[in-house]
Amino acid sequence: MKAPIDQYVVIGHPIGHSRSPFIHRLFAHQTGERLEYATLDVEPSQFAAKVDQFVATGGLGMKITVPLKELAFAYALRRSVRAQRAGAVNTLRFGADSEVFGDNTDGVGLITDLTVNLRCELTDARILLLGAGGASRGVLGPILDLQPREVLVANRTGERALQLVQLFEADGAVRACTLDALPDTPFDVIINATAAGLAGQQLPLRAVHLTPGGMCYDMMYGPEPTVFVTQMRALGAARAVDGRGMLVEQAAESFAVWRGVRPRTAAVIDKLTQSLAANL
Ligand code: ATR
Repeated sequence: MKAPIDQYVVIGHPIGHSRSPFIHRLFAHQTGERLEYATLDVEPSQFAAKVDQFVATGGLGMKITVPLKELAFAYALRRSVRAQRAGAVNTLRFGADSEVFGDNTDGVGLITDLTVNLRCELTDARILLLGAGGASRGVLGPILDLQPREVLVANRTGERALQLVQLFEADGAVRACTLDALPDTPFDVIINATAAGLAGQQLPLRAVHLTPGGMCYDMMYGPEPTVFVTQMRALGAARAVDGRGMLVEQAAESFAVWRGVRPRTAAVIDKLTQSLAANL
């Protein structure tokens, strides 16, 4: 009799448009790992019950997306250093001896996409990080590890930017400001981690904030250029890209946490791009 297939799932709310199953099935095929990968829509109030149920039926791993990453952090019995720094968990692994290991691969996903795929230098760069929510917190530590010249965290609500900066001020040169008080200075790398684009809203950025050859990076992604990418291109940015590469890179890292095998990502980013275009 064949052994049952290893079970994985991505949970979030809503979850219908998640590309996670598409990506992980491509990884499984590429690496020859035998697994099934499903989606589960879980409201925050149901989080613990649904995860307990998944574990009880032998599930081995879980990806966690908005708005459940803080709940997953609380659920984990052991957490990686990068999850502790992020204050959130996007990857759970369930193993022998009732292991519930929580990790966060968002930061490494962004850094790999920026520095390896896009060949963007972060060391000694002037970086503007837009937003001070969970998405920003997940990436700020790994950005500072690369020793940029400075990171300015700009947020609509100034107090939240200050709170985030206080968490990381021992890790490097990081300052806070409100979005409407952005200095008239250029940045080498501008990263959007706000949810403004979801509401179709632009951010108060101007051409003075751009550097020739600089990078504008939106952590959101979609079939069409995002609001941020469109805005930055209109301001004259030569390089403005969305977060599809980060999506694939953070998934590859999670896959490695579960299976001990690291998939190659370039072809998967290409396939995701084709799939996004086909669903326009
Ligand atoms: P996430 O986990 O995705 O970061 P979040 O914690 O709700 O979600 O944070 C959303 C971020 O987008 C915050 O920085 C938020 O700014 P506030 O802290 O002022 O709420 C930012 N944001 C959301 N809508 C925005 C808008 N229309 N303009 C500018 N910033 C916005």
